[in-house]
Amino acid sequence: MSEPILVAVAWPYASGSRHLGHLGGAYLPADVFARYQRLAGRDVLMVSGSDVHGTPIAVRADDEGVAPQDIVDRYHGEFLRQWDELGISWDLYTTTGTDNHAQVTQEMFMAQLEAGHIDRRVSEQLFDPEAERFLPDRFVEGTCPNCQYTDARGDQCDNCGKTLDAVELGDPRSKLSGATPIVRETEHYYFRYSDFNEKVGAFLDSREGWRSHVLNFAKGFVEEGLHDRAITRDIEWGIELPVDDLGPGKRIYVWYDAVIGYLSASKEWAASTDDPEAWRNWWENPDAKSYYFIGKDNIPFHCLFWPAQLMGAGDLNLPTNVPANQYVTFKGGKASASRGIGLTIQEGLDLFEPDAIRFALAAAFPEQADTEISVEEIARRVNEELVATWGNLVNRVLSMTHKSCDGQVLEPGPLEAEDTELLASVDAAIESAAAHFEAVELRAALRDAMACAQSVNMYLNALEPWRVVKDDLARGQTILHTALSAINGARVLFSPFLPFSSAQLDEVLGPINGWQRSPLVVGTPINKPTPLFTKIDIAELGADDA
Ligand code: MF3
Ligand code: ZN
Repeated sequence: MSEPILVAVAWPYASGSRHLGHLGGAYLPADVFARYQRLAGRDVLMVSGSDVHGTPIAVRADDEGVAPQDIVDRYHGEFLRQWDELGISWDLYTTTGTDNHAQVTQEMFMAQLEAGHIDRRVSEQLFDPEAERFLPDRFVEGTCPNCQYTDARGDQCDNCGKTLDAVELGDPRSKLSGATPIVRETEHYYFRYSDFNEKVGAFLDSREGWRSHVLNFAKGFVEEGLHDRAITRDIEWGIELPVDDLGPGKRIYVWYDAVIGYLSASKEWAASTDDPEAWRNWWENPDAKSYYFIGKDNIPFHCLFWPAQLMGAGDLNLPTNVPANQYVTFKGGKASASRGIGLTIQEGLDLFEPDAIRFALAAAFPEQADTEISVEEIARRVNEELVATWGNLVNRVLSMTHKSCDGQVLEPGPLEAEDTELLASVDAAIESAAAHFEAVELRAALRDAMACAQSVNMYLNALEPWRVVKDDLARGQTILHTALSAINGARVLFSPFLPFSSAQLDEVLGPINGWQRSPLVVGTPINKPTPLFTKIDIAELGADDA
């Protein structure tokens, strides 16, 4: 049996369009990683879905005067179309609005309640005296007590990343009416995260190969001490509590249920196969590994609270790695759907081919630090790197093979040292990229792919097969065979990043057979090629208003 790998991807709120920054920060790295793992022969389960609960959706519905479900339907539909267009290869992309998800959430709540990890407490919460409603989370904004950012939300500060309690905000204002909230008592269920401080600390200490910014940030929380947090809210939109002793008007807190989505989606996926228990292979098998692809604002929920929830619910696998990304910024501002910064995924798709977006974002994945991107930068990378180094190479070699090798893969003559050296360097690049993928260093893996393509270009420029075929056809054909063999290896390296052009090459060279360079099949017809990518006309982009 091959190793099970869970690729768990942040659940986007179905509260607005997502931006290229979100794509480059979570969904795309997850897809690239999953595609590599599948080629490497692992048993991958990649799940996510739309996060349909909580105040992001409720606030939006309020603003528009429509039902929360209308907002959810609109954006969930949009996301599904975009994943398809972008080639994001989910095994399941669902929503947190399913009966299955509610049931799995309620079961986990009950297990933790019975185990004594959840208790009831009366606390003070902000209340809007005009709207006569409590103001959980994003229904209130104010000044962050940690960094003084003035637009912090009731649940979290987007500037410093700290999770907040709305009553801590300075100068709070209601999103409902603009009124200054008053403080009122209310009763809620609390998860006793503080009970897990030591265990979560030990969990973090035992992790290997984590990005240092992720590990340090998470450890900082544990050093300060985890606080117990309310896991219910005074809100009408969310999963119902499995117990009714708090009275009406209370729902489960969105962040408590959203992370459970990884588990509930795995169960939903299994239920659709012929083995409904198959989810256990990723959640109970000690050999399984799990990778959570998220943006850095989600680190506390995935590195601290979710592990504690799992520890409190029994014996399910804890995250192997949480390769959280920093932000992709658009000329300085963090891409944010709620704040309207950056290019939406749709705007990106209107301008560029999917593989072009995927390439430009992958080259700028913010693995260690924030990265910047712009329309001009995407266009430059596509033209100067993707097209110039890879697209043109493939086109050149296929055209010459078509012309000079009877339109097919011929048996090669004896290889010279320069030929075997090239092929050895391709094989070395494939190995090097594998190590980078295993370490979730996806940018480095893309650099291996580019370096590999570059070495084939240099080989061609040095040996000039277009000249050799005129004097020594047999040797010229062997050079072309070698170059095509090298491309047959390089395409393996590019395939996790570029699924569409990769499929186009599969049509010519046959499907990729594992994470390795396979021999070319003699007799394969090589027709006049269609270019893999289109060069971008920068003048036509209207880059100024981007
Ligand atoms: N909906 C959250 C966001 O967009 C992310 C949730 S990730 C989850 O920030 F796994 F917890 F669902
Ligand atoms: Zn802050």
